[in-house]
Amino acid sequence: MPVVVLIGAQWGDEGKGKVVDYFASKADVVVRFQGGNNAGHTLVVGGEKIILHLIPSGILHPGKLCIIGNGLVVDPKVLLEEIDGLKAKGHFKDDSKLKISERVQLILPYHREIDVASEAKKGKSKIGTTGRGIGPSYADKASRSGFRFCDLKHPAQLEKKLKEAIKEKNIYLTRVAGAKPLNAKKVIKEFLGYSKRLAKYADNTSLLLDRLARQRKRVLFEGAQGTMLDLDHGTYPYVTSSNTVAAAACVGAGISPLLIDRIIGVSKAYTTRVGGGPFPTELFDKLGDMIRERGGEYGSTTGRPRRCGWIDLAQLKYAARINGLTDLVITKLDVLSGISPLKICTGYKYKGSLLKDFPAEVEIVSAVKPVFKEFKGWKSELGNIRDLGDLPSQTKSYLRFIEDQLEVPILAVSVGKERDEIIVMSEPFLAKV
Ligand code: IMP
Repeated sequence: MPVVVLIGAQWGDEGKGKVVDYFASKADVVVRFQGGNNAGHTLVVGGEKIILHLIPSGILHPGKLCIIGNGLVVDPKVLLEEIDGLKAKGHFKDDSKLKISERVQLILPYHREIDVASEAKKGKSKIGTTGRGIGPSYADKASRSGFRFCDLKHPAQLEKKLKEAIKEKNIYLTRVAGAKPLNAKKVIKEFLGYSKRLAKYADNTSLLLDRLARQRKRVLFEGAQGTMLDLDHGTYPYVTSSNTVAAAACVGAGISPLLIDRIIGVSKAYTTRVGGGPFPTELFDKLGDMIRERGGEYGSTTGRPRRCGWIDLAQLKYAARINGLTDLVITKLDVLSGISPLKICTGYKYKGSLLKDFPAEVEIVSAVKPVFKEFKGWKSELGNIRDLGDLPSQTKSYLRFIEDQLEVPILAVSVGKERDEIIVMSEPFLAKV
């Protein structure tokens, strides 16, 4: 059964949007399974830039079914804006093509307020969240006081629940977070409006997906953020509040792990990170600035400049293991044209010894000394190349080294922003590897 999970192998922003968009053209169903509108999947279609925060990238291909799984936290305001924006551009014509799990958690206005206030309190040690209320919404889910998408189907009950929750959260907002209280009437009115417009998308998506997978439909799971931002396996506490690894697709969509055939990890040809936290191969010099400018490395959700550095195989080996990657996609290879020498980090040294695995403590990750191998760069632009064999020999050596070290075959290489600027070695929806 061709069920493919695609995840970010680094700290997010690996260019998954474009890769998902390409693979979505071959899929029947595209599913998001974690995160929320902290994600921003950028796609360039016919010169037009489209950024999707919640709706799976498959929506840009007519006829594909798009599913928002139970593992997400959804801000109804953002969801509606995204639906309206896509419709206005003529990209989302059929409402039946979007299904949202009844079990999705909602982001409420107080989650955004708490997110921003708690970051402000942390001062220098702030995580650098996107301020979208992601962490506080997941925290309410875990403490069993959240709102779910199915609540939108029952307006009277929703109103009652909202009144109680806002009363309680206002105490927290004013006394602990130092923020202004929310106007309950206003929030209730807003949410009853969402209830009217959004309830029609609610569905039992776990059941639907199980059926579709068993009918051998081609299902693509679209991860958000990246492995190193995973709540359990990332550089905690500088992580997001969801599990971003491949295994999360099962929990976040309500399907069996036995249904998954392939796991594709996406990595840039270099590394970026946005927000706080350790980043062993970070470049602090002009080269880092150059990569940022050439790669357009500014957050698609917040506009923040991304920190840039060399590709890190110590980190990627960890990601390959945790996710069980069967395939690798390398993006933004074109950004490295003209830089020589190039460096690849092959391992970390800590107190003089080579580490065997990615450390748990962020203090150690901050203190490690990356071991680099130098590679001769290439000068030519890569945007027009569609066959791996036509890449400059230095580019091929660079890619082969990554592939050999990670022991994961490269499935595709992205060489530009446009939809078709990609070299694909084989199709993802093939039999089990
Ligand atoms: P939060 O997800 O807004 O709570 O932010 C927690 C951390 O994850 C911060 O360092 C964010 O910059 C980072 N983060 C969240 N979403 C993304 C993403 O889509 N790409 C890259 N970093 C992200």
